[in-house]
Amino acid sequence: MPQPLRTVLARVVTLSLGLALAGAGLPAVALAQQPAASFKMAPPLPDLSGKVALVTGSTDGLGRDVARRLAAAGAHVLITGRSVARGDSLVDEITTSRKGSARFYRADLASLAEVRRLADAVKRDNQRLDLLINNAGVGFVFDSTPKFSAEGHEMHFAVNYLAHYLLIKQLLPLIVANAESRIINVSSGSQEAIDFDDVMMTKRFTGARGYAQSKLAQILMTIDMAPALERQGVLTYSLHPATTMATTMARALNVTPRSTIAEGVESVVNAIVTTEPTGTYFNRQVPIRAHQQAYDSSAREKLRLLSERLLAGH
Ligand SMILES: NC(=O)c1ccc[n+]([C@@H]2O[C@H](COP(=O)([O-])OP(=O)(O)OC[C@H]3O[C@@H](n4cnc5c(N)ncnc54)[C@H](OP(=O)(O)O)[C@@H]3O)[C@@H](O)[C@H]2O)c1
Repeated sequence: MPQPLRTVLARVVTLSLGLALAGAGLPAVALAQQPAASFKMAPPLPDLSGKVALVTGSTDGLGRDVARRLAAAGAHVLITGRSVARGDSLVDEITTSRKGSARFYRADLASLAEVRRLADAVKRDNQRLDLLINNAGVGFVFDSTPKFSAEGHEMHFAVNYLAHYLLIKQLLPLIVANAESRIINVSSGSQEAIDFDDVMMTKRFTGARGYAQSKLAQILMTIDMAPALERQGVLTYSLHPATTMATTMARALNVTPRSTIAEGVESVVNAIVTTEPTGTYFNRQVPIRAHQQAYDSSAREKLRLLSERLLAGH
């Protein structure tokens, strides 16, 4: 690939994995040239002994290190992902460490039936769920043809957003069983307005836009659910963890990492302990405004109604 094209693509990917803070009103290129924020430790986690945490996408990348951190604080961590080998190895590692405990649940979030099976298994095995970290994600940002889930939904929308919408709904009885539980949605600074006339992107698709719309959908969901969840004793937050962390997702796109996974872990830890109002979106550990569509209540309602319609058939 010619060097100038590579440079442009690398910049697009950097934006796609997290610097396109559309809501901040800054030009995208200027943002891409900003140095990554300096590493900052989040306030420490409390003792999580006796607490149960589910981290989706914890077989790899950010989720794997978040799971390690939660177990180190004493939690029983429910590991999820498709890779049995990576799931089992993390359970072994946590068991050997004698800090916290873990169990692996295999589930492909590209299937709503598997999301329902995952939720049923979690409810069967656990009496409580103190933390639900919705982290699993896909980013085919260079693709020019869409992929579809088992139910025919555009893959970014299906895995990054809709699977987690369903998971929250299915697990809510367990989540509200104990006060002060939290739902954390790992989104991204990459956000684009959802085109409600073409949500499955059959008319106009780019991978970068599919990823960015799904990441904004997570933020709309967070803000939309926050008031009702709060009435049930549950706080919810969304966040951009860090820009182009050195994970499988970033490596697959062949971009130079700009952040460590450890920085992303601190962003998640911050959301677990923050005293900011429920519904807040964080850029790393800083509360900021997300894309303006997140604050449009009619867009949030549209997304909620669409999600219910899509789930009704499955
Ligand atoms: N990397 C970055 O710089 C960056 C920047 C901003 C936001 N984020 C967000 O951070 C989160 C974690 O990203 P990462 O960089 O850690 O990615 P990663 O290393 O690629 O890990 C993704 C995780 O999601 C799981 N996953 C993917 N597809 C799945 C599916 N269909 N069903 C079930 N699990 C699935 C993977 O597990 P299996 O392979 O075992 O299924 C893996 O555990 C994502 O939501 C991403 O959008 C990342």
